[in-house]
Amino acid sequence: MNIVILAAGQGKRMKSALPKVLQTLAGKPLLQHVLTTALSLQGKQAKTGPIVVVGHGAADVKEFLAHASKEGPGFSRVTTALQAEQKGTGHALLQALPKLDAQEPTLVLYGDVPLTSKKTLAKLAKLADGVRGQDSALALLTQDLANPSGYGRIIRDADGLVQAIVEEKDASPIQKAIKEINTGIMVLPTSALKKWLKALSSSNSQGEYYLTDVIAMAVKAGVPIRTTQADNEFETIGVNSRDQLASLERTHQLNIANQLMDAGVSLADPARIDVRGTLECGTDVFIDVGCVFEGCVTLAAGTKVGPYCVIRNSVIGKGVSINAFSHIEGAKVGNNSLIGPYARLRPGADLANDVHIGNFVEVKNSKIAANSKANHLAYVGDSIVGARVNIGAGTITCNYDGVNKHQTIIEDDVFIGSDTQLVAPVRVGRGATLGAGTTLTKDAPPNQLTVSRAKQISLPWQRPEKQEKKVAVKNTVTKKAVVKKSVKGKK
Ligand code: UD1
Ligand code: MG
Repeated sequence: MNIVILAAGQGKRMKSALPKVLQTLAGKPLLQHVLTTALSLQGKQAKTGPIVVVGHGAADVKEFLAHASKEGPGFSRVTTALQAEQKGTGHALLQALPKLDAQEPTLVLYGDVPLTSKKTLAKLAKLADGVRGQDSALALLTQDLANPSGYGRIIRDADGLVQAIVEEKDASPIQKAIKEINTGIMVLPTSALKKWLKALSSSNSQGEYYLTDVIAMAVKAGVPIRTTQADNEFETIGVNSRDQLASLERTHQLNIANQLMDAGVSLADPARIDVRGTLECGTDVFIDVGCVFEGCVTLAAGTKVGPYCVIRNSVIGKGVSINAFSHIEGAKVGNNSLIGPYARLRPGADLANDVHIGNFVEVKNSKIAANSKANHLAYVGDSIVGARVNIGAGTITCNYDGVNKHQTIIEDDVFIGSDTQLVAPVRVGRGATLGAGTTLTKDAPPNQLTVSRAKQISLPWQRPEKQEKKVAVKNTVTKKAVVKKSVKGKK
């Protein structure tokens, strides 16, 4: 089956510099949602991949496709057709004609209708199949909507047979009252489609070549028109404005929340979670309100995520507690660890089991072995930290000399006193203790106390006194003067 995705429109109603199909839903461009479904429908054996009709912001859309082809499987099979001027959906499809295999039917998808399921599209394709001895039909995905405004309406005759689609802007008041709308998604016999598209006219209220006009042409040509509807209304919702995008985002997020709960995850409030990617959870995971998950995130069984955490591309072990306002990216967290509140784990943070990372502690590109703790206000970067290490409050690994990054190695059972700076490259030997306030510039030997500190001295001292009274009098005088002046002004 040929698949064409129309994505050349500007999306005027979005009022954005970004082409509409690159606006994001759940962190991914609308077009990416459509392409992912199209690719899974076609399967790997398809001769040609989906054809995306690009036009407005073509360079941006092509750049997205080039980027996606590096990441997503199958995306490299996607090709494009250019619609240099946007003259309507029919004109857009015309640009893809030379690429279509006339022996195969053509499925038309819209880059701004992101959530149609593979199941619905497969059902539609089956409907278009020619029954033995019959020509293939035109299959149209329609939807009954309580509020059909903005969509093309399906016009049926007295026998219920589809006759035409009328766009909202061209519809009479009676036609506007029709609740059955055109989702835009259809499967057409390709050789007939070629003739129909060339015969389209732009004599309508928008002066565009409407793809929807091929329906009346098919009726005239005696091609049977069959319709079906999706199981869920959200599958057919098109995004034309920012409020439609926001409302579809909430619907989509609620669906994801329901899937998580079905899989055994507890959510404090299913309306207050955002998953922008994939979130895999073990049993009895609890997620509090306001959390955002991006990319691929795994939370193993029994893990609890406190309110307002952001977790991106990370693997979190079993029974972990991530407390409020923690920010975790590209990290691995071992079982039963305690993170936050207000912790920041950056890419390459690799924590073993039972590690504690407390408030205002940042860990980057560092391995921390089991049972080690950094509970308050610390920076651990480019480090290897052994087991049972205690990193005191205010400890900083000074990893950067302005040009290069250097490594800090802290061996097992080390105790680091508060406010210590470890000037990398440096090594702290097993069992060593660093005295509070130490600036460590040379390796610390194992099992000894190393301390670098200015000698403490005490001197007689008279603190200077503030002369507060004079200032106070001056202020009163100015205030009175201001009051007098304003009263005078009123007279
Ligand atoms: C279209 C349908 C309408 C249907 C609705 C469903 C037509 C004439 N109308 O209206 O019946 O109810 O979708 O969502 O088909 N595009 C191009 N080139 C163009 C114009 C549009 O590639 O010249 C692309 C857009 O990028 C978009 C899609 O086609 O992805 C639909 O265009 P849009 O302007 O959103 O059409 P609607 O007004 O929503
Ligand atoms: Mg639209």
